[in-house]
Amino acid sequence: MCGIVGAVAQRNIVPVLIEGLRRLEYRGYDSCGVATVTAAGPQRVRSVSRVAELDEQVRTAHFEGVTGIAHTRWATHGAPTVNNAHPIFSRDALAIVHNGIIENYEALREMLRAKGYEFVSQTDTEVIAHLIHSLYKGDLFAAVREAVLQLAGAYAIGVVHKDQPHVVVGARAGSPLVVGYGEGEYFIASDALAIAGSANRVSYLEEGDVCEISLEGVRIADRAGNLVTRESRDVQAYGGYGDTVDLGPYRHYMQKEIFEQPRAISDTIPALDEAFDPVLFGENAAEVFEGIDSILILACGTSYYAGLTAKYWLETVAKIRTDVEIASEYRYRESVPNPRSLVVTISQSGETADTLAALKHAQSLGMEHTLAVCNVATSAMVRLTEFTFLTHAGREIGVASTKAFTTQLVGLFILAVTLGKLRGHVNAEQEAGYLKLLRHLPAALNGVLALEPQIIAWSEEFARKENALFLGRGLHYPIALEGALKLKEISYIHAEAYPAGELKHGPLALVTEAMPVVTVAPNDALLEKLKSNMQEVRARGGQLYVFADADTHITSEEGIHVIRMPEHYGLLSPILHVVPLQLLAYHTASARGTDVDKPRNLAKSVTVE
Ligand code: AGP
Repeated sequence: MCGIVGAVAQRNIVPVLIEGLRRLEYRGYDSCGVATVTAAGPQRVRSVSRVAELDEQVRTAHFEGVTGIAHTRWATHGAPTVNNAHPIFSRDALAIVHNGIIENYEALREMLRAKGYEFVSQTDTEVIAHLIHSLYKGDLFAAVREAVLQLAGAYAIGVVHKDQPHVVVGARAGSPLVVGYGEGEYFIASDALAIAGSANRVSYLEEGDVCEISLEGVRIADRAGNLVTRESRDVQAYGGYGDTVDLGPYRHYMQKEIFEQPRAISDTIPALDEAFDPVLFGENAAEVFEGIDSILILACGTSYYAGLTAKYWLETVAKIRTDVEIASEYRYRESVPNPRSLVVTISQSGETADTLAALKHAQSLGMEHTLAVCNVATSAMVRLTEFTFLTHAGREIGVASTKAFTTQLVGLFILAVTLGKLRGHVNAEQEAGYLKLLRHLPAALNGVLALEPQIIAWSEEFARKENALFLGRGLHYPIALEGALKLKEISYIHAEAYPAGELKHGPLALVTEAMPVVTVAPNDALLEKLKSNMQEVRARGGQLYVFADADTHITSEEGIHVIRMPEHYGLLSPILHVVPLQLLAYHTASARGTDVDKPRNLAKSVTVE
């Protein structure tokens, strides 16, 4: 993970670098720093606090410069201390910021120690700093090109040297880096968003590229050392930034994003005449979809739970065999590839390293038909797949995924019905019914959001707990999983989810009066079975907190607390049922006073494996 930004200009560039870091905090936020360069050497300010605090420090110190690099970190090698925060120096002559992991850093460190270099941090980054320093003979661009040939692993770097105070050199392999073009000033960044506003145009560097930005312009060399040009695009293509950062009446972005779900879903549902048409996924999707015989879904975290939910829809509606795999497992295990399978990757960011690697792994095994369900049109995942379904959640800032999840579910449901139609399992009447359900969904969600005051009352009790169980069955088991992930991720309460029928096979041993058991209770075919599982909990004194569809007629009684949901919403019920779980996690975390939008140890975009 980590975010990097660099700039060369004829004005004080520090405010631009700090603003860039603020926009890159989604990539990690356990420490940050900025360096500018003068002929006397690089100077830096670093902090183990947030970018807002770094901003205070640079203002107080009147820290300025026309050439600089900056970094927001998600620690991999070395604890999040000031000493390990980037920029990292080599002999007070060179400074570097780095995103990624250098796999051969131990061997390089021994080689550099033998040359007399001292290591003062625990980072793998320091080996790159000393390596470039050792190769520097008056041309930073040349030294970096030579150095990267010795690096194994993933990196995006930005480097400055005191002898070239108007030059920043960048390089990338495995981690993204863009070059930005402004009016007589140039930038590098992990994400175009970081420099939108200062740069007018951006180019994505390709694997192995090294770039030099200076007051004279930009030079890019490919891995073989040839000077190349990379296509540039208007930075507006990467979307604006300003409007999305306004919190409005909300206390946190997560709360705002939960309440944006009706709008996000309505934006994601296609126009009436396009609904369930394969063309939604790409030009020749109909032809390809007709030839597939199974689905393989690859994703991580919340996106994986969207995949688990989709399996029920794909097998029920489209009658197509569907496997769902955690990307970080699939990429390293031996599997039996099926070239007639459609590989579906699900990702909010489209930059998740494990999901991208799993996709490439599937492609390398001969599975050429791929579809990304993704929220970022310009992401690596969208560029790598044959077909795309774009969710229109809008920028999601809170680390905990909310509107990205529910819009993914909408996209996956549309995929299931589209395939069902093509395969002759959905008739016109059923199609009209599904369309009606989809179109009414934003209004139905508003009904669920209105339950917030009741959920706040529960959250005050949950805030005093250290453990919670979540139960669901069938289509709602993945929703229980997602509810538990939301709670643990932002409130730090230990939470586990089980299919309710599994309770008696072990986890029931945990149930006492102190254990809250959150139960997802839709009025579906499994309701009576679920009620029996609830009795198993009550018989052991467990406290049930039940989100029950109105037509289940489950009511509050001793040890059973009930919040009544709207009436059962059929196959799209999971999209309604996840919302109170998001609100419960949000208000519980809020009551515990955690940093809801930036929970400890996490990052929004997980770009390392
Ligand atoms: C969920 O709240 C988390 N932020 C996390 O599990 C996330 O869903 C996962 O890292 C995958 O991210 P992606 O959707 O961007 O690929």
